[in-house]
Formats: sequence, structure tokens, C-alpha cells
Amino acid sequence: MTDRKHDAIDTRNPAVPPDAGTSTMLGVPPSPQESDGRLGRRNVLKWLIRAGYGTFALAFALPALALKSLTQATKALAKGDVLVYAPTTSGADVGQPLKAADLKEGSGVQVFPKDKSDDQNNLIEVVRIGAGSGADGLVAFSAICTHLGCAVYAELNKSGEIACPCHASRYNPKESAKVVGGPAPRPLPSLPISVDQDGNVIVDGNFSSKVGPQ
Ligand code: FES
Repeated sequence: MTDRKHDAIDTRNPAVPPDAGTSTMLGVPPSPQESDGRLGRRNVLKWLIRAGYGTFALAFALPALALKSLTQATKALAKGDVLVYAPTTSGADVGQPLKAADLKEGSGVQVFPKDKSDDQNNLIEVVRIGAGSGADGLVAFSAICTHLGCAVYAELNKSGEIACPCHASRYNPKESAKVVGGPAPRPLPSLPISVDQDGNVIVDGNFSSKVGPQ
């Protein structure tokens, strides 16, 4: 009885060797050489279609994997990070550490944590508000407006306020970046900083609240 069953299978596809199921199980299309002369062209066509489908799927999968890898490379700000000048500060030596002594009273600059400029939410506004306040007179805030997420100006306006170029929100750095004008719904999140023995400005904690719009 067993032999008759095998005979029936061999009759339907006599050219298929006994171990042909292995490649099918692994999802690899059988090569054209696996077929006999009568079915050759049809199998070649099937094989090409399957190979083409695999290439098409791979073309989508590779960019997706690359994007995932880039996303994972985004680095969050952390305590101990050295702050370096951001390109948004005009005339700054971009990428070089901000020295506390660089800032005059009533002036502001923008910085990133070193090697973490790939995330705009890491952009930080540092302002010297005067002796006796903050870290050696310096305070720091997120530079991302809480209205719709634009980056604020690095330089303070004539009133000593942090201003947003998009819809004219203004924040007072002497009062914990409280909103003093415009549509921003809440202050800029503050960031604890310190100054190390070399005069570099260092991150000393995390933002006081969520960066950007809620
Ligand atoms: Fe800053 Fe609108 S995004 S005021």
C-alpha cells in the first residue's frame, strides 16, 4: 500500500527527487535545473518571479533597518555632559566647550551637550543673569519654544528676554523663563548646570519638564 502511494506521487512529478522538499521548506525557490525539460520554462519563470519578489522586499527592508539604527543613535542629554557651542550662536566656535567666562552679563548663547547635537531637543540656552544667581551667574533653559517647538533666538532682545522668532513668545530668564508675552503656554524648562575647575559649563541634572509643546 505504501509503495502505491509513492508511485502516485512520482507519476504527477516524476522529475522531483526524493529530497526536493528541503529547499521548499526553507523558502528557497527550486532552481530551474531542478525541473525536467517539459516544465523547464514555466519553472524558470516562477523562479525569476520569486527571486524578483525577494529583491523587492529586501529593497524596503534595508532602508528601514538603517533608519532604525539612526533612531537608536540619538543620544539623550545626561548629567556630566560638557556643553559646546551650537551653530545657532553667531560667531561661536561651533563644537568647542562654552567657558563660563565667555558670557557677559545680560547675554545668551546656545549650546548642545557634546556629541549630542543630533537631537534638536537637546538645544540649550545659557544666559548670564548676574552674580549670586545660578551657577556662577549662569542659568540654562531648553531652547525649544513651548508653543509650537521653534528654536528661540540665541541672543536676548533689548529687554533681556529670550524671544521666539515664530510667533513672538517671550520669556524672562531672570524669573525662571516665565512667559512674558506671546502664545507660549508655559515657561521654558530649566536645566541645572555647574562650572568645572577648567571653567567649562556642565550639565548637572535633567530638564525640569518636557521639552517643547506638551
Ligand atoms: Fe514659539 Fe510659536 S513656536 S511662539
